[in-house]
Amino acid sequence: MPSDDLSGLCEAIAKGNVVAFTGAGVSEESGIPTYRGTDGFWTKYDPDKYASIAYFEKDPSYYWSFFKDTRGPLLHDAKPNSAHIALAELEEKSKVNAVITQNIDGLHQVAGSQNVIELHGSSRAFHCMKCRKGYNLPEAEEAVEKANPPICTDCGGILRPDIVFFGEMLPPGAIEKAFDLARQCSLFLVVGSSLVVYPAAQAPVVAVEAGAELAIINVDPTPVDHLAKWIVHEKAGEVLPKLIEE
Ligand code: APR
Repeated sequence: MPSDDLSGLCEAIAKGNVVAFTGAGVSEESGIPTYRGTDGFWTKYDPDKYASIAYFEKDPSYYWSFFKDTRGPLLHDAKPNSAHIALAELEEKSKVNAVITQNIDGLHQVAGSQNVIELHGSSRAFHCMKCRKGYNLPEAEEAVEKANPPICTDCGGILRPDIVFFGEMLPPGAIEKAFDLARQCSLFLVVGSSLVVYPAAQAPVVAVEAGAELAIINVDPTPVDHLAKWIVHEKAGEVLPKLIEE
């Protein structure tokens, strides 16, 4: 039966060769609502529309209206919380080798994590769907103030975010790199993910099958709890700093 014995988990982290795997729960204490929670602007916009490539190609202005409405809280106001900072410190101390994240908010990098694999892309980068010219966040915000959907200054094509919409493949090589990291680590540390979206959710199983120990820090149960040596049903921002102290 998995334990919530933090001292055993601290020892495992102290040994190093840890790979962290995060989801929306690690950014919840930064004020970013999770996808499957009951609060926040996700209830105002239909995820089947703003998060789907099929709908984006039909009506890109729906996503861009969602972007204009949420970019403030999501991309400007949200700051890394103590969970992001703890993971960056563990990398600094050479305990964590990498952070595999499903999040698109870029907060791990802002907190100082260097080796971050963004499985679902980033909402801080954009490109033209026609000529693929790249745009950063300020450029995209300027373009969407002028027109919705925003238009490429070079070719007149429509801009899109560098995120993985539902219905799209993950960035080339991202999941393979994540699975390689999972196979090589001694401890696979899941933080704040419901582990229901594949192929990302396969990563903890790949790690355990390769001999790693699994720890899950998540407020709710997940479908792979039975594989975990440690399960901590508490807020990541409260637990991770304790793991560092010990
Ligand atoms: N600390 C720890 N866990 C938390 C916290 C917290 N402060 N707040 C919420 N959680 C947990 C919830 O219990 C939930 O199980 O975080 C999990 C978040 O789950 P989801 O909202 O499903 O987010 P995630 O697992 O990242 O979703 C995966 O689904 O919508 C797609 O592409 C999107 O990347 C996303 C993917």
